[in-house]
Amino acid sequence: MDKIIRKEMISNSPEETRAIAAGVAEDVKKGDVIVLTGNLGAGKTCFVQGFTKGFGVKEIVNSPSFAIVNVYSGKFPVYHMDFYRLTGVDEIRAIGCEDYFYGDGVCLIEWGERAVNLLPARRIEINFEMLDKNTREITFENFKY
Ligand SMILES: Nc1ncnc2c1ncn2[C@@H]1O[C@H](COP(=O)(O)OP(=O)(O)OP(=O)(O)O)[C@@H](O)[C@H]1O
Ligand SMILES: [Mg+2]
Repeated sequence: MDKIIRKEMISNSPEETRAIAAGVAEDVKKGDVIVLTGNLGAGKTCFVQGFTKGFGVKEIVNSPSFAIVNVYSGKFPVYHMDFYRLTGVDEIRAIGCEDYFYGDGVCLIEWGERAVNLLPARRIEINFEMLDKNTREITFENFKY
């Protein structure tokens, strides 16, 4: 069976989610692909904000809903993607996301499950589940690491 490691955490505030994300940013390596899943408002962008801050990105980070991908420079490049409004996998190919998946930066992909067939098998998935207004269960799964 494929190697899958699973870990669950609880966050009680947006600040806590950002702090967890900053901790993850310390551990990533070039070429890591992190897929963020969970409902609207679950905390995916909040996580990316904490991650990029921890990674040395100075810009304000928001969801790249219209651009599909935003590129930030931190310790090494950060490719923040959001596939929510994606019309099909051709769009991902056209944008060149596959180059980013196998490139020299770290990919953070909101709604990445919408293009699951294009995602590298070697990836980290982080799921956000809303337990109540300020509480989130954050589940980490590392596939083939
Ligand atoms: N523990 C928590 N962790 C993260 N966000 C929280 C938490 N508690 C409350 N929130 C709030 O939940 C919202 C999360 O919004 P965010 O934009 O990060 O969601 P999202 O998953 O990116 O949604 P979308 O699918 O629309 O992109 C924010 O308004 C944030 O303040
Ligand atoms: Mg978002």
